[in-house]
Amino acid sequence: MSQFVWEEKYDVGVRLFNEQHKQLLNILRDVYKAMEHKQDKAAIAEVINNLIKYAKEHLTQEEACLKENKYPDFENHKNYMKYLFQKLSNSMKI
Ligand SMILES: [Fe+2]
Repeated sequence: MSQFVWEEKYDVGVRLFNEQHKQLLNILRDVYKAMEHKQDKAAIAEVINNLIKYAKEHLTQEEACLKENKYPDFENHKNYMKYLFQKLSNSMKI
C-alpha cells in the first residue's frame, strides 16, 4: 500500500497543507483497507464520506490560499479538483 504514503517530493512548502495532505493519505488508506477487507457497503460509504468531507475542508482552505497568492494555475487546479470530486461522488453511486 505504498501508494498512500507521503513523501518529501509532495512537500508544497506550506506546513498546514503538507499535514492536511498526509491526513488525506491516511483516510485514503482507510478507504483502501475497507475495500481490501471487503467490508460492507455502509462501512465503505462511511470512509469515503470521511474522505469527501475532509477533502472539501482542505480544498476550501487550499483554494483560498492559492487565490490570495495569485497562483498562476489556479483555474486548472480548481477544475481538476472539481473533476476528482465528481469521480468520488460517482463512486458513491455504485
Ligand atoms: Fe491539496
